[in-house]
Amino acid sequence: MEKSLFDLIKETENYIKSRVEKMPEIAVILGSGLGNLVDHMDVVAELPYKEIPNFPISTVAGHAGKLIFGNLGGKYIMAMQGRFHYYEGYDMKQVTFPVRVMKSLGVNTLFVSNAAGGMNKEFRVGDVMIITDQINLFPENPLRGRNFEELGPRFPSMTEAYSHELIKKADEIALEENIRIMHGVYVGTTGPTFETPAEYEYFRIIGGDAVGMSTVPEVIVANHSGMRCFGVSVITDLGGKDILIPPSHEEVTKAAETAQPVMTKIIKKLLERI
Ligand code: HPA
Repeated sequence: MEKSLFDLIKETENYIKSRVEKMPEIAVILGSGLGNLVDHMDVVAELPYKEIPNFPISTVAGHAGKLIFGNLGGKYIMAMQGRFHYYEGYDMKQVTFPVRVMKSLGVNTLFVSNAAGGMNKEFRVGDVMIITDQINLFPENPLRGRNFEELGPRFPSMTEAYSHELIKKADEIALEENIRIMHGVYVGTTGPTFETPAEYEYFRIIGGDAVGMSTVPEVIVANHSGMRCFGVSVITDLGGKDILIPPSHEEVTKAAETAQPVMTKIIKKLLERI
């Protein structure tokens, strides 16, 4: 008989528990060019994705692909260095499988970071945007299909997809640290194409401030599992009718790397306060 999602999660949970002594309550998913946060961690264990049963394997250049356990900002956390993108060919269940596993390990708070294109005219390249809400423009929802009540409700609420309390704390940190911080709605699309000028314009009209190719599926599953979420985007390029500079993967990675110290500071300080 084919294993159910529930069985697969349990199997992966058991493997991780056999390899790592202590389980965290906080997890961080590190996006493109933002993997250096782990350099600030006091690492106690590392598990390459390829050794973890049922984990998909990361294919995109620039993603190392491992789970890292350790301390940061005085908290014991796990970090996902490298995530799974829908555009790589994974289905929604694979993209969000690590979040299911996090929950089964005991994680109740999820931090996500990503690189995104800015549509809000106030934004500049290199800005950090706290995600206040999201719009799912993937052609699928990761919760489609059989619902396991043990994992969460059939019709979960998404009214506070990103924790207001964590946003407030991050705002306080940005103010204290003199960090220019933006707020906005993240639009999640499949990629791998960057947007046409008309598409950036369209995403702006429907209420988006930034657009990217990740995060939305993970945050849906995290909400389904009852986790509170906090997300930040680095604005790596700008898009719209009047912007004719084409974004490139190199540019996106470079801009994300430049913003790393600020991202790291916010995440570290936030960890200290929760
Ligand atoms: N569009 C989609 N995804 C992105 C972008 C963008 O402009 N920049 C970084 N990720």
